[in-house]
Amino acid sequence: MNTNNPKRKVILPLHIDTTSFTGGQTQSSLWRKLNKRQLPIFALLTILFFSLFLNIIQHNNQKPSNHPEIFSSHDPLPPVPLTENHHAIIVAGHAIYTGPDDMEQLTNDKYWILEPYQQGGQVNTFIQHIQKGIDILKEDEKSALIFSGGETRPDAGPRSEALSYWSIAQQLLQHDNSMSAQLKSSLSDRMITEEYAKDSHENLLFSICRFSEMTGNYPSQISVVGFEFKRKRFEDIHRYSIGYPVDQFHYIGIDPAEKDPSRAEGEMNNSVRPFEKDLYGCHGTLKQKKMHRNPFRRRHPYGASCPILAPLLNYCPSNNAPYRGPLPWAS
Ligand SMILES: *[C@@H]1O[C@H](CO)[C@@H](O)[C@H](O)[C@H]1NC(C)=O
Repeated sequence: MNTNNPKRKVILPLHIDTTSFTGGQTQSSLWRKLNKRQLPIFALLTILFFSLFLNIIQHNNQKPSNHPEIFSSHDPLPPVPLTENHHAIIVAGHAIYTGPDDMEQLTNDKYWILEPYQQGGQVNTFIQHIQKGIDILKEDEKSALIFSGGETRPDAGPRSEALSYWSIAQQLLQHDNSMSAQLKSSLSDRMITEEYAKDSHENLLFSICRFSEMTGNYPSQISVVGFEFKRKRFEDIHRYSIGYPVDQFHYIGIDPAEKDPSRAEGEMNNSVRPFEKDLYGCHGTLKQKKMHRNPFRRRHPYGASCPILAPLLNYCPSNNAPYRGPLPWAS
């Protein structure tokens, strides 16, 4: 390298070969030149290489496995409770219930914090999503049910979508006469909340980490319960963007009974197309939406609890390239 370029040889000390130092003449003239003209450059290069070296060392130290201080050693966790479970059932939240623990009131719009387009009929469907999640949970005793959704509405106060769905699930369980108290309690033990998601991409990704926090495993099966009109978004965009295998992913769609053609169009305009162009929801309108849905300035802890997912959680490509880093599931 650079053997036919003696000037270059002098400027870059790393490229000085040992023969340069064997002849006294060459050596002394070389060092004289270096001293007179190149010393500042030599000094700068030395500093540059040294700082690069330090950077590399520091970067290596920042790998989560070498960084125990991101977990507080004064904040120990109890043992993982649900180690037998491998199937994650995810019910994505859409709004927040603020009403009493009263079955009669669950479908009353006035106790829900709703977007204008959700008023007049969607609430019944939210309850059906929760019930469907419970039904699947009952069918598969190796499953855990995750209600996912953050503190997304200022008018609900710091109540999360997830917790409000969970409390409705408790109501539905309590009033289900087909189950023994023992079965109800065992189902309830397998219900989890994920309280940070601000959009559907986060519903999926954050719930997977939450599942891992509670089971010690990443799910080998995922069932997502949501609106039928959001199927394409979950199956083709969100599942794809995290490289989760198609054959281990199931979407269960339930739509409101009344047909509304503007729904599919709105889904296409406001979600499918934006997410297709911005798979990780981290630019433009999707990013704005997430900020708007975070009035309480909450931030998820999942980079620390699922360090293998940290690069994916932080991934925001400018060219919309899908994530290709390591993942705890085969893709
Ligand atoms: C969807 O976008 C098209 C084209 O911009 C527009 O004509 C239509 O009204 C939009 N529909 C909805 C429901 O947003």
